[in-house]
Amino acid sequence: MTSAFADATSVTDAAAVPGPGADRVAALARAPIDSLARTSTRLYRRVYQAANYRLRSVAGGRFRSACRPVSIALLLTERCNARCVHCNIWQNKGKEDSPGLEVWKTCLTDLARWLGPVQVTLTGGEALMQPFAPALVAHGVSRGLAIELLTHGYWSDPARLEQAALADPWRITMSLDGIGEIHSVVRGRPNFWEKSLASLRMLQRLRAERGLHYIIRLKTVLMSHNIGSAAEVARFAADNGMEVFYQPIDRNYNSEEDDRWFETAPTWPRDPEIAAAAVNELIRLKRQGYPIANSIAQLEAMIPYFRNPMALQAAVQGQAAHERVQICSALTTLQIQANGDVGACHSKPPIGNIRNAGISQIWADRPRFWEQGCCQAGAAALED
Ligand SMILES: C[S@@+](CC[C@H](N)C(=O)[O-])C[C@H]1O[C@@H](n2cnc3c(N)ncnc32)[C@H](O)[C@@H]1O
Ligand code: SF4
Repeated sequence: MTSAFADATSVTDAAAVPGPGADRVAALARAPIDSLARTSTRLYRRVYQAANYRLRSVAGGRFRSACRPVSIALLLTERCNARCVHCNIWQNKGKEDSPGLEVWKTCLTDLARWLGPVQVTLTGGEALMQPFAPALVAHGVSRGLAIELLTHGYWSDPARLEQAALADPWRITMSLDGIGEIHSVVRGRPNFWEKSLASLRMLQRLRAERGLHYIIRLKTVLMSHNIGSAAEVARFAADNGMEVFYQPIDRNYNSEEDDRWFETAPTWPRDPEIAAAAVNELIRLKRQGYPIANSIAQLEAMIPYFRNPMALQAAVQGQAAHERVQICSALTTLQIQANGDVGACHSKPPIGNIRNAGISQIWADRPRFWEQGCCQAGAAALED
């Protein structure tokens, strides 16, 4: 496979270490230790995740109150400079009441002390519109967290993205909803594709030149606009040393509750069989070894969703449509809004605010939503 990008994965750690003389020797000596540390934190995350997912249902759910968060996201801002067709967050206006860098830093420090080197995603809105985003990425990395930065990559001035990349987070995920003009159409601004591509090139160049280790992940929402060409993103990822994660279209983010949204939404793929064929093609590519990060089960679960969105939308919103039995997301979800409000379920009110209490305390004191059976509507459809 050929590419316009340098393939950073073909550059070994040693060859990528910059600088001559003593610095280079020290860096070379450090490389095996760094690599061991990365392996052990990866292992920790796997065990942590598996243990907490298991706790939700083992022994008939007797231990589920002991679950700790697995899916942790910090929304640094709910403002955005894109104009996406599938998301209304960009319509938010006015000044935000952010807790500020120091409170966010304390939150990351507390998460690392409480949970160990777990994954934490910094997102938005567009996280990089928050000037302190790169400093927060660096802080999270310094506390040993597996920081993921989720961005749209639409920058004329790449300085903030560059600073964030130099902190060497665990993963930088960039939304990419198609190859070429289709991406600009979905994202609602001219030259979105060109600017995203320039950002990806920069990330690859920095990673190779500075001996950094971050994973570059593409994130593609499957919708009417790209359903016929979704596999192109997987091919692009394979050609460029990246991976891709696919997500099925949901009701526009930040839009009114409406469980029949798909009947009128221009983003919804009208023909379920075309959608099923597209997903089957992705499954085929994954089996061939293409770098598609979804599990086969996650991909397979998209087909019944495209055929019957009404039955499965609660599960898709909780990103759990592949699970055999639907389980309350408040057992493992922690989402902190741009004003510091903490959520554990997208359809329930906040459970606290990081300005007023420590994050582990907020988690321990949260209402026991899982005892209320509130979002189990899709469960029967998913059981064997
Ligand atoms: C809300 S955005 C925030 C991060 C950043 N602004 C970006 O677009 O990558 C997070 C992810 O949600 C996805 N998203 C937005 N609206 C969606 C929808 N209606 N259904 C599914 N995914 C959606 C975006 O494509 C993006 O990958
Ligand atoms: S998907 Fe991301 S880039 Fe698009 S409007 Fe929403 S927050 Fe902004």
